[in-house]
Amino acid sequence: MALDLTPEQKAVGKANFEQTAGELARNGKMDSMVAGGGVDPKKPHRRDALKAALAAGAVVPVSAAVYFGYESWKGGNPVRTALIGTGDEGCVLVGDHNPEFNQIVAVCDIRPSNLKRVFEKDGDGPRKGLKNVVGTKAAEKIRTFASLDELLAAKGELKLEAVVVATPLNTHDVIVKRCLDEGLHVLCEKLMARTTAKCKAMIQYAKDKGLLLSVGHQRHYSTLYANAVEVVRSGVLGDIKHIKAQWPRNNSWPYLPSEAEKEKFATEYGLPQLIDGWYKGVLKEDAVALPPEKLAQLAFGNVNEYGFKDVAELVRWRLYDKTGGGLMAELGSHQLDASSIILGHVHPLAVQGVGGKFFYGPGKNDRESDDGVFVNYEFPGATYYQRDDDGHLVLRDGKPVPNPKGKDDVVVVSYASFNTNSFEKYGECVMGSRGTMIVEEERDVYLYKEPDKTKKGDPAAGGRDTKVSVGGAGGGKPALEASSTWGGAAGGGVTKTATGTAVWDSAVRGYRTEMEHFAYCVRKWQERGGKVDYAKDPKTGKLVHADIIPRCHGEVAMADAILALTANMAMDRKQRIVFEDAWFDPTSAEVPEAKYGKRQAQA
Ligand SMILES: NC(=O)c1ccc[n+]([C@@H]2O[C@H](COP(=O)([O-])OP(=O)(O)OC[C@H]3O[C@@H](n4cnc5c(N)ncnc54)[C@H](O)[C@@H]3O)[C@@H](O)[C@H]2O)c1
Repeated sequence: MALDLTPEQKAVGKANFEQTAGELARNGKMDSMVAGGGVDPKKPHRRDALKAALAAGAVVPVSAAVYFGYESWKGGNPVRTALIGTGDEGCVLVGDHNPEFNQIVAVCDIRPSNLKRVFEKDGDGPRKGLKNVVGTKAAEKIRTFASLDELLAAKGELKLEAVVVATPLNTHDVIVKRCLDEGLHVLCEKLMARTTAKCKAMIQYAKDKGLLLSVGHQRHYSTLYANAVEVVRSGVLGDIKHIKAQWPRNNSWPYLPSEAEKEKFATEYGLPQLIDGWYKGVLKEDAVALPPEKLAQLAFGNVNEYGFKDVAELVRWRLYDKTGGGLMAELGSHQLDASSIILGHVHPLAVQGVGGKFFYGPGKNDRESDDGVFVNYEFPGATYYQRDDDGHLVLRDGKPVPNPKGKDDVVVVSYASFNTNSFEKYGECVMGSRGTMIVEEERDVYLYKEPDKTKKGDPAAGGRDTKVSVGGAGGGKPALEASSTWGGAAGGGVTKTATGTAVWDSAVRGYRTEMEHFAYCVRKWQERGGKVDYAKDPKTGKLVHADIIPRCHGEVAMADAILALTANMAMDRKQRIVFEDAWFDPTSAEVPEAKYGKRQAQA
């Protein structure tokens, strides 16, 4: 992402970000640092704790629990949780979980290989293995189940309170509903569901049952993104007109397995031709346990929707239209989620793009989903106006339009993901008239001041080498000011990677903190008694109990799903699609699929 920056310029960019975020926080410009999105007058100690910590000079020297306002619950009574789906992502979630918040009492998967894998360390990242996270003895007590039915039948003896669902996309809605039926709170991985209608049904179901439904877009729980969002909201980047987001990868290298590796695979399902995490070999062990008739039994009564025609489709589910949503669902949804958060939790106006199977095909892999997507979204800018119910021109927040520049004020978010080049890193670059902020690999943030053209010849006018501080913080509007006196953030900071070393930081990555916050919300609702109340304040339209409902709840996650799924429809139809407000309203039956669903499906 930060393609041609020298190491020195990167160090300057990181220091600028930390300095700016720290200064904004110390000067009270970062209100949403408290209680997950607004100052809570009943809990002033959080603000005090933050202020005291921030006075030390670092950016966010506080834990995510303090940052997001759930530090009051220190655990000691962890929520009894089961993991359903112990594949790549399930192993990340429990490998990085905090046992003080969630006690994993059971794991469930239909693939025997993954049911074993979740206990063992896998690589150097977050897949630490349950044995390492909770200790071998405690791990031995974790029960294993080969089907959802068996797990739910043991719900009572397990004293189960909640589940984490990390299964393929086409199974999310049915598994979530089954768990809600059993009175369990649910954290479901993204993408929320395969269609918008299913997302709406899940939201309604959780509401009717009065249970929590959280969805795993982890950027909502990342202290790194929270800081980045605050920097944008402060206005120091000026007029933002473009966000460039991308996730390029190179999965075009031939897969050359050793004889021993080949021996593990059931060759009747074909061997991978390329090194591609989405087209894996099928392990013999899984093939033996899951012949098609067994998979049909496990399809929740609807093979067409929830089933897998064979074990290969189960293992390679991301590649097929029935079971996955391709690059937009898997990668784009995260980065569009980030972009819409950065722009103030707004819904997009329109999308168009180009996508296709440009590289893969017979002999490489038999995917249905696109292997390259290049999409442009139009988002409303800060002065974008619309008409209210009375026909008056109003801004997004309902205020009158001060300067009716209006419908031209659009922010273009361009997104690209493809499989044949990994030269640039993944990330998001926010471009404003006064500054640029780059979030790279969910780990590093760089901030630069735009060169000030009125200060010709002044080396401190701005640019990639210029250190900045925040001016106007004493009451005026914050603005980036060039500074030659910057001395560093005392080694503290958001990323823990000031030296450039890649370090897995749980607070920054968000997986651990999304599970912590989910557990906190479960306990808070249990303390209150009664159903989870998703009521909205009629004046603000915001959740009344937002402080104890997961930040990425159903409605938020549905918007991310709509962004991804509609982009697929726009590419499929080669058409610009205008988003409709009703699509984002969980109580409306309107969905984008009704108008723009697959052309083939409609033929
Ligand atoms: N938040 C993130 O950053 C992130 C990253 C990767 C994946 N994900 C999401 O996590 C989910 C899982 O992805 P993954 O990469 O782990 O896939 P995976 O194929 O590695 O694992 C999925 C597991 O679910 C199991 N499964 C399927 N049907 C089941 C059923 N009926 N009951 C029990 N287990 C069942 C499979 O056997 C498999 O072990 C997807 O929704 C994916 O989009 C999220």
